[in-house]
Amino acid sequence: MTEPRKILVTSALPYANGSIHLGHMVEYIQTDIWVRFQKMRGNQAIYVCADDAHGSAIMLRAEKEGITSEQLIDNVRAEHTTDFADFLVDFDNYHSTHSEENRALSSSIYTKLRDAGHIATRPVTQYFDPDKQMFLADRFIKGTCPKCAAEDQYGDNCESCGATYSPTELKNPKSAISGATPVLKESLHYFFKLPNFEAMLKEWTRSGALQESVANKIAEWLDAGLQEWDISRDAPYFGFEIPDAPGKYFYVWLDAPIGYMASFKNLCARRPELDFDAFWNKDSKAELYHFIGKDIVNFHALFWPAMLEGAGYRKPTALNVHGYLTVNGQKMSKSRGTFIKARTYLDHLQPEYLRYYYASKLSRSVDDLDLNLEDFVQKVNSDLVGKVVNIASRCAGFIHKGNAGKLVAANAAPELFAEFAAAAPSITDAYENRDFARAMREIMALADRANAWIADKAPWALAKQEGKQDEVQAVCAAGVNLFRQLVIFLKPVLPQLAAAAEAFLNVAPLTWDDHKVLLADHQLNPFNPLMTRIEPAKIEAMVAASKEDLAAANAPKGNGELEKDPLAAEIAFDAFAAVDLRIALIEKCEFVEGADKLLRLTLDIGDAKRNVFSGIKSAYPDPAQLEGRLTLYVANLAARKMKFGVSEGMVLAAGPGGEEIYLLSPDSGAKPGQRVK
Ligand code: 2FM
Ligand code: ZN
Repeated sequence: MTEPRKILVTSALPYANGSIHLGHMVEYIQTDIWVRFQKMRGNQAIYVCADDAHGSAIMLRAEKEGITSEQLIDNVRAEHTTDFADFLVDFDNYHSTHSEENRALSSSIYTKLRDAGHIATRPVTQYFDPDKQMFLADRFIKGTCPKCAAEDQYGDNCESCGATYSPTELKNPKSAISGATPVLKESLHYFFKLPNFEAMLKEWTRSGALQESVANKIAEWLDAGLQEWDISRDAPYFGFEIPDAPGKYFYVWLDAPIGYMASFKNLCARRPELDFDAFWNKDSKAELYHFIGKDIVNFHALFWPAMLEGAGYRKPTALNVHGYLTVNGQKMSKSRGTFIKARTYLDHLQPEYLRYYYASKLSRSVDDLDLNLEDFVQKVNSDLVGKVVNIASRCAGFIHKGNAGKLVAANAAPELFAEFAAAAPSITDAYENRDFARAMREIMALADRANAWIADKAPWALAKQEGKQDEVQAVCAAGVNLFRQLVIFLKPVLPQLAAAAEAFLNVAPLTWDDHKVLLADHQLNPFNPLMTRIEPAKIEAMVAASKEDLAAANAPKGNGELEKDPLAAEIAFDAFAAVDLRIALIEKCEFVEGADKLLRLTLDIGDAKRNVFSGIKSAYPDPAQLEGRLTLYVANLAARKMKFGVSEGMVLAAGPGGEEIYLLSPDSGAKPGQRVK
């Protein structure tokens, strides 16, 4: 017998100012499946999470709603925990970063870092809102773009021309919160000296703790050189005050990951068998995994291990990084009704449909995962209802009718039963390595085998023949046993279906090793349908309701303000004809160090290469996806010197902004360098 492993698992802490949507659910379902699998295997797996409750966005939203930040985070926490529970996400603990445990741990980690010489202070000059009496983060400053004069642009970049700049370059700056003209003001900031940990990070990020593609991305950042990290914010701020610095607060991203520890600490107080130190000490033998999305890798692969190391704690065993969710092949879109909130889904559909669909698509890769709504209906109906549940419903009736619900001892399919058991190590390996897609494929291949065998034996035909009753019972007993093995293999994904199957089978909660044991000479309970088919009308209703969510969110605010005329002023034909539009091939597309919204594109325009910065990062968080694509390029736009280099022209995109920016593409057949007529 091997010792059970001690495994602490986390999912990223959702912000306490918004609803959970199906994009979030990829991660919580992925983590929950993995943890349930570990528990079924007999390991001590603990799954903790919390709401990420701090920061100015939460403070300002509470203010807008006329409630305190504490009230807001309480309300949101109630909503989040119900959504997760209804998706069958079974946390051992769901806490909040606004908790006493987190305050104590954040203070003590900071103090240890300070005492070890890892904190620096220096003054920083920033815009300050004299009305609100608060410093303004770049996104809370708006003004006129210093490059193209577009109005109403954010403090760090222009959505109209893609230029990036510092807020002090913005013309006519205004506070987006009060409308006041901000003034420059100096204040002392606290920095975490991340460069002190460069050697450790170079080693840790190559130790197998990261997927290879993630490690490669981090290596680029490490090679570019690490910067000190600003961990303080001035009052007013919703967060924890820094112990030796009255009026200064920890930046939300400082205490957020410490929230993982705090949630576990809070759980330890309720579960005496759990020893906090055994999981977090430097020499801990326990395993620690953080499931996260690829957008927050820098916080988890650089700052967090460095903070842990600096404060004398163990580092994570691994980060399990996943990609984003697309729906029907595109980014979730409010206008298309594919930005689907967890609650909207649950109003129309069963949670296990989505759990299974995500499982069938999830692997170790950081590639995006597509929820294709047609494929979703087809796959769930065909695999779960048509293949798995079908086995039990085909056999149960004969056992209840012909043998008063008692499974006979005879096993008509010993080879198949052994074959299913022999598949377990490979399915185990797939789950362990988070290749759920492979696990689901292998399980469905077994379900196909079981169905083919039952179809071949045709108990419904045997039942009509004289003297074949024993054979009918033996076939159906074998069918139920094969079904039971499949349910065991699927239980991490489908806990509700497994519970209903356990009730039908009249057995204690199934564990992984139960797949080796035959159920024989055993009384069953009445059979109730375990799962029904998805009706496509439910999908339509969910999409329509998601559009309604949008309508509600966009309802006029009642201030009588008119929307801007969406049509710009006319231009003469000559002005239009003067634009030199060409087809360009995006050869290379990459992030721009230090720029929140820009991507750097290397364009092949037929006879030359061009370097263009484009403010489309929010819509294309994975730049590699644009490589190899054709687009439209304005070739005769004057080159512009930006903070990060010279931008030579512009690529064309449409859309309201944010995640909804669509790069334009020519029809197939177009070649780089061709002029647009
Ligand atoms: O990106 C986010 O949604 C953050 N709230 C995740 C925090 S994860 C952890 F570090 F707390
Ligand atoms: Zn501009």
